[in-house]
Amino acid sequence: MATLVNLRNLLEHEIEDLYSAEEQIIEALPAMADSATNRELKKALKEHLRITKEQKRRLDQVKKILRKDSSEEGDAGFLERMFGGGGTKCKGMEGLIKEGKKVMDEDMEPSVRDAAIIASSQKIEHYEISGYGTAKAYAKQLGLREVERILATTLKEEYTADKMLNTLALSNVNLKAERGSASKAAAKSPAKKAVPKKASATKSASRKMAAR
Ligand SMILES: [Fe+2]
Repeated sequence: MATLVNLRNLLEHEIEDLYSAEEQIIEALPAMADSATNRELKKALKEHLRITKEQKRRLDQVKKILRKDSSEEGDAGFLERMFGGGGTKCKGMEGLIKEGKKVMDEDMEPSVRDAAIIASSQKIEHYEISGYGTAKAYAKQLGLREVERILATTLKEEYTADKMLNTLALSNVNLKAERGSASKAAAKSPAKKAVPKKASATKSASRKMAAR
């Protein structure tokens, strides 16, 4: 395996990791959307599939810029040396998706499953927020302005997706999961109103990690 000798190498490594992560998410999202019963959640997951495909395309753009920049400096580039340009599988995302599938395979009430799908999706989002936040900071440090701009666009989308999932959980899905199998009966005579909290603990933690 090639040695990472500088921050530029680490950025390229991070981009490769994110690329694999996006590929795995594109593969996993249709099954997650199929398993969801909440209409808004189903719609959100389908929409995120479209956004994720665009994010993967942006990473292609980043890789192209980095390759061009390397060849102009007479360097074949770390990616070529390390992976022959073919990339490697992101084990972090593989683990998160595997864990999410394991939970979805459990026998659950549909409303509880919806809450579990949101939890899995937010774990995925937080991984991406951390990865894109790091890569963006490296690009800034290296003076790669176009790369920084592209990564910032995706980072913003990941924050928006996380916020939307949080709102969906706190305003609707968690309440239905709390009621569980009594959900349908309770929906006919709603007695308790959802009290939205400010933000999830994990969300604020990930914000801190990504704030660079
Ligand atoms: Fe993404």
